[in-house]
Formats: sequence, structure tokens, C-alpha cells
Amino acid sequence: ASYDMGGHDTYMHKEIHEQADAVDRVLRGRIDDRFSTVHLGGLNLDAREARRIRRVKILGCGTSYHAGMIGAQMIEELARIPADAEPASEFRYRNPVVDPDTLYIAVSQSGETYDVLAAVQELKRKGARVLGVVNVVGSAIAREADGGIYVHAGPEVCVVSTKCFTNTTVAFALLALHLGRTRDLSVRDGKRIIEGLRKLPEQITEILKQEETVKELAESYADARSMLFIGRVRGYPVAREASLKLKEVSYIHAEAYPASELKHGPLALIEPALPTVAIVPDDDLLEKNRAALEEIKAREGKILAVAHQHQEKADQTIIVPKNEDELDPILMGIPLQLLAYHTAKALGRDIDKPRNLAKSVTVE
Ligand code: AGP
Repeated sequence: ASYDMGGHDTYMHKEIHEQADAVDRVLRGRIDDRFSTVHLGGLNLDAREARRIRRVKILGCGTSYHAGMIGAQMIEELARIPADAEPASEFRYRNPVVDPDTLYIAVSQSGETYDVLAAVQELKRKGARVLGVVNVVGSAIAREADGGIYVHAGPEVCVVSTKCFTNTTVAFALLALHLGRTRDLSVRDGKRIIEGLRKLPEQITEILKQEETVKELAESYADARSMLFIGRVRGYPVAREASLKLKEVSYIHAEAYPASELKHGPLALIEPALPTVAIVPDDDLLEKNRAALEEIKAREGKILAVAHQHQEKADQTIIVPKNEDELDPILMGIPLQLLAYHTAKALGRDIDKPRNLAKSVTVE
């Protein structure tokens, strides 16, 4: 595919900078202020069916799996339905119990990923209801699903997914709000989330203005052999995705861990040569996250924090604007897309086409 590069050196850079507009598109026409909810035309799920769901299982691969992890948390928080995400590539090989009261959701940018499509087909054979959260309109997964949400990120050319990840997390916020409002989520909370959603495009623009700072940071970390990414609960999938981004595009080894698990093993790795990127949202886990930073500092580990306020224990903090707690994960990974991009650039990598990778993996 070839689309206008609009003055950007790579599609990755272009697509990172398209995110405010992309998020605007996924929201457009869907918010209903009168009932403090959202309308998702293609869902094919009436209120009675929505109230009957007992569990949600989200399936995707790679970045889409990480977006699904964030989605599962949003659904559990806002709709109070137990929800989890699992790699689609593993799901069908463990003879899973397919349950009629579970809502299955397949997530895919391309809508053509074989492992996801095969999981959808397997689920349908077993009589399950499957929704798609997909970017490419009319793609195989979109056609196979019983309904779903298009994420409207626009064409994504870079092999490494950025804007589609962000839009997918927003699509999940819409779904969580919708399911919540057909169940027990209050009008007040509905309004609160809607206000938060409306702030996103502007906040993304604000984050991207810090590019020069992130570029300098990236250059200072580019010689690292390995990096650790940590976060807790809402921050953990953000850490997972940021670590995937870095390794895909810069080839630096990166590993993500829940900060709470550090003392159960990875703390042994901490030394000046292993930098840690920490996701530190201003939510009820702030103090616990700070304690983790302290433990790393005590072992002379370098720390780059992505946070809502300056973190004393960190060597550097990238400040991200605060949204509602539930929506924070949508924003916190964005500066780390820039970190991955500028690290790869400093190392002279083939950013839009990393070695060994394909945009959509249509074989098993
Ligand atoms: C994204 O940066 C990756 N290249 C990859 O993990 C991708 O997300 C995965 O292959 C799934 O693709 P899909 O969303 O098109 O199904």
C-alpha cells in the first residue's frame, strides 16, 4: 500500500501523529448524552441479551491481545462482568469450555490474522456468540463475527501497530460503557466516562507535543541491551504493549512484569545496566507503585516513569495528562510508542518493516 507520507519519514511516525484524529473518528456519532451511554450500531446485541452475559472472553494476538487485556479490565470495572483476554493462538488448542452465557470478542486490526479467524470459526462451530473489534471493514473476521465494532483507525501501513491499538482501547471503553449502562452503571458514572472520552483527542495532542523530550530520552537509552517494563493492574497491559513495541522496532530485548511480582524474581536482574520503564498512574495504587520504584532505586536501577505527576524516585518522568482512572491506560502508552520509534531511529532500524515480521499473519 502507498499512502501520502505527509512529510513524515515513516508510516510509524505518521500513524503515531494521526491518533488524535483517529480517536475522534471512533467516538464520532456514537455518544448519546441524553441517556449517558453510547450507541454501537453493529453490535447486534439487544439490552436483554446484554443483561444475560455472565462472562466476557477476549481473543487476539500481539498488540490486539494487549488492547484486549485493557478492554477486559474496562468491561469488568464498568459493566461488572468478569472478563479476561487470552492469546487467540493458544485458545483453540486447550479444548476450551465454550459457554452460551459468555460473550466472546475477537480483536484484530487486519481482520485477517489466521489464529484469530480460526478461534472465531471454532467458537461458532460450538454455538458461541462472537463479536469482532476490527479495523479493516469487510475483512474475514468482521464477516465471520455475529456483530461488532469497527475501530475506524484508518489504514495502518507500518507493520508495528500504534494508532489501531489506541483506537481499539477506545472502542473497548465504548463497549464497556454500553454494557455498563444496560446493567448497573449509574447515569453519573456514564456521564463521567463520556466526559473523559471527549477529552482524549486533545490530551493525545498534548502528549505528542513532548516528542523532543522523548527523543532525547530514547537516544540516552538506545545502548541498553535489555529493558524492563512494569505496571500494575491498569498499567500492566500498557507495560506489555510498550515492551512489545520496543522489541519489534528496535530489537532491544524487553520484558514486561507486574510491578507487584518484582520481588518474586525479576528484582534479581536490577542493576545500573538494566533500565526500567514504569507506568505510574495517579490511581489507588500510586503509593504501591512508588514503593516499587524505591526498591529499584535502592539497587541502582535507572528508572523512566510515565506518570501523571513527577516521580521523585525516577531518573526521568514523562508526564501524561490525567483522565478518568478507567481511561488512563488509553493514554499512558502513547509516549512509549514515541520512545520505541526514536530508539529504533537512533539505531538505524527499518522502522516500517522490522525484520522477520509481517503486517498480518495469515498463516498459522
Ligand atoms: C503489532 O505491532 C504486531 N506487528 C502484531 O503483534 C499484531 O498486533 C498481531 O499480529 C495481530 O494482528 P491483527 O491485529 O491484524 O490481528
